[in-house]
Amino acid sequence: MVRRMSTTQFLIRPATVDDAPAISAVHCTNVTGWRMWDVNNDDVRPARYTDLTPYQRWLNGGPWMDAAACTHHITRLLDSGSIAIVAELNGRVLAEAELHIADEPPPYGRNMNLAVIYVHRNHQGQGIGSALMRHALALAESEGCDTFTVAHAEAPSFYARYGLQKESMWIRFRLPIGRCKIKYSAEPLPDGSYDIVRGWAMPIGRYQNAHHDWERTRPGAVPDLDEWRGLRLERHWITVGRHRAALILEESPSAPGVADTFVFTPTGFAADILPVIRDFASLFGFTGLRCFARSDSRLPDAVAADYTHKLFLKRLR
Ligand SMILES: CC(C)(COP(=O)(O)OP(=O)(O)OC[C@H]1O[C@@H](n2cnc3c(N)ncnc32)[C@H](O)[C@@H]1OP(=O)(O)O)[C@@H](O)C(=O)NCCC(=O)NCCS
Repeated sequence: MVRRMSTTQFLIRPATVDDAPAISAVHCTNVTGWRMWDVNNDDVRPARYTDLTPYQRWLNGGPWMDAAACTHHITRLLDSGSIAIVAELNGRVLAEAELHIADEPPPYGRNMNLAVIYVHRNHQGQGIGSALMRHALALAESEGCDTFTVAHAEAPSFYARYGLQKESMWIRFRLPIGRCKIKYSAEPLPDGSYDIVRGWAMPIGRYQNAHHDWERTRPGAVPDLDEWRGLRLERHWITVGRHRAALILEESPSAPGVADTFVFTPTGFAADILPVIRDFASLFGFTGLRCFARSDSRLPDAVAADYTHKLFLKRLR
């Protein structure tokens, strides 16, 4: 698709892995000052990009902050069937957007989530972001999506122009761990594609959408950096009565011993699952649990923690 601007024209096309270094460069233009954290992450100081290790670059803004990490990220994203699109002017990539399609129960249904949209800092305000948004919404329509969402939106009034409205508030909760008397069984959850849980809800841990969150908690989702070796990733099937859930506990790099919690269920939220998760985490030696959940979720003993975000949604049919 070619879009005309007043004096120039740019092309919107699917991204390939070869675009990763250029995508990384676009994202890096939006960092106004690079920072370096000390080993314990409790002191931070200004730094030069070239002095930062790949891990330190990641801490400044995720996989897009380093060409090799971005290549790993785009490779995984495309392999999982998700979509990356770029806007190109005279052969140069100037913007990127990433989209994940999930199939979930209502209210999301078949959902396209815009996880990322970034325009090169020197080319913002020229209509490129709008063109990417229109392209993404057209893709969502052609993919038969019921809803289009943006979580953790940093530019809400930009999304409002395209009909997205605040749908819900999400909170990061802290959950105590502890034994329980409910009978349950657990077995390892093998690695596999999103099809394993396609159609299922994510009552706990949903951050972008179920497809995105499934992919980001699979083994190998992040590059194999020294700093992350030894962090635990526990993936299990849990069965409580007639309820079955895929439970993923991912040890947090910023809070050793504490696990970020992700739950996929075919049957909605069963009250018994929560004490079982806390029991399971305790057996596996975790010291605490964290999870994202809708602010109106009923999670007994959960304490609202340090972080909230809003989900913006447009209903397509
Ligand atoms: C937000 C962003 C994608 C918009 O893309 P863009 O190419 O700059 O936007 P456009 O030129 O298409 O602007 C369309 C309109 O949206 C407005 N707009 C642009 N950025 C905006 C923002 N951050 N918040 C609110 N409105 C914004 C523009 O002012 C313009 O309005 P106008 O038509 O009245 O002049 C881009 O500015 C960007 O990459 N920002 C930094 C990264 C970011 O915040 N990404 C979103 C993360 S959730």
